[in-house]
Amino acid sequence: MIVAIDGPAGAGKGTLAKSLAAHLGYPHLDTGALYRATALAVLRAGGDPDDPAAAERAARSLDTAILDSPDLRSAEVGAASSKVAAIPAVRAALLDFQRNFAHRPPGAVLDGRDVGTVVVPEAEAKLFVTASAAVRAQRRHQELQERGEASIYARVLADIEARDARDAGRADAPMRKADDAVEIDTSDLSPSDVFKRALAVIEAAGTS
Ligand code: DC
Repeated sequence: MIVAIDGPAGAGKGTLAKSLAAHLGYPHLDTGALYRATALAVLRAGGDPDDPAAAERAARSLDTAILDSPDLRSAEVGAASSKVAAIPAVRAALLDFQRNFAHRPPGAVLDGRDVGTVVVPEAEAKLFVTASAAVRAQRRHQELQERGEASIYARVLADIEARDARDAGRADAPMRKADDAVEIDTSDLSPSDVFKRALAVIEAAGTS
């Protein structure tokens, strides 16, 4: 079974995807990491994340070792990743890898922005995980502080709102809830409550 989890930054997709994958015994792909890795490669080469040619080159020659870099999670790379993700040639370059990952037996859990709408619209179980921008900003802020990065809440909130607007507003594969996805608002839920709700959706999909 393919489990597709989409939603905005900081909604809890990553935590949920990892725990579902562990529970189901499936591999997990954080598709956002591919866009972050592309952005980091562009920045390291001294390029501009808004430059389609530089970004496409980086996406096509992605070295998987970069996926383990701690720099992937920085605020700077987060902002740049949303820029490279708006470039259609970058999205096209990363598509086959994601589809192949999803279709390997016995199944997979993928999280991102367009997994249920574009990458694998045929996924049996689709979740759209959301939370208010204020809650997501608070979570990100705490995460950055715990990693020792200087963080200002108002700045994190503004970055999240800008990223939401860019991810949902782009022409190619915008962040969107698939018609057949089940939405879970995590604003007032603990990770274990989110997990239980998601598992119920997956179990229902498995028996239908
Ligand atoms: O989930 P994240 O913050 O690691 O994602 C980083 C950026 O990558 C995000 O701003 C939008 C983009 N992205 C995308 O366009 N499509 C995906 N499937 C996953 C991420």
